[in-house]
Amino acid sequence: MAQINPSILSADFARLAEEAQAVEGADWLHVDVMDNHFVPNLTLGVPVVESLSRATDTPLDCHLMIENPDRWAPQYVEAGAGSVTFHAEAAAAPVRLAREIRAKGARAAMALKPATPIEPYEDLLPELDMLLVMTVEPGFGGQAFLDIMLPKIRRTRELINKHGLELWLQVDGGVSASTIERCAEAGADVFVAGSAVYGAEDPAQAVRTLREQADR
Ligand code: DX5
Ligand code: ZN
Repeated sequence: MAQINPSILSADFARLAEEAQAVEGADWLHVDVMDNHFVPNLTLGVPVVESLSRATDTPLDCHLMIENPDRWAPQYVEAGAGSVTFHAEAAAAPVRLAREIRAKGARAAMALKPATPIEPYEDLLPELDMLLVMTVEPGFGGQAFLDIMLPKIRRTRELINKHGLELWLQVDGGVSASTIERCAEAGADVFVAGSAVYGAEDPAQAVRTLREQADR
């Protein structure tokens, strides 16, 4: 079954606990960490992740859009994240980092910006629990879905299957009622949705509707 991860980037940051609770029933809560260096936006860090993990029973899926994840990512596991995603473009030693995240007890994931191909990372896939194919340039919510990423999603799914791996394939950026079916058809099974969930009248219902569409 498809997993839907609402992104709290599109929530009201002054009411994070309530906003997290508004999507109970979601599989994971997607937490976008940005440092104003890797991307031109600044969001939140370890203390907020710690507080959020106490405020909700939904496990946290931390997407680190930061420089030097080798140094900082392990702290997010200690802060309570159940899954930690670092960017391939930022990690100096992705295998070592993935092993460290797993050893600390979280799922390890790696993200690819739109211009980063999957092929150079084929041999690294067994070290990961999830691969994130970005479907917008990271940095902001509410951007238009990049259709040109569909072949990369398809290719990544082929590589996962070729190696007989269990890892999840996540998409993030512009995922909505009008794009989720294309992503699912291309092989994605974990869907991040920010504006499509928090921009809806009833966020919990938006999660259920997206899940039904992805499973169609
Ligand atoms: C963008 C973030 C996304 C963002 C998605 O850099 O990684 O998680 O919140 O927002 P929507 O779903 O509105 O494109
Ligand atoms: Zn994200």
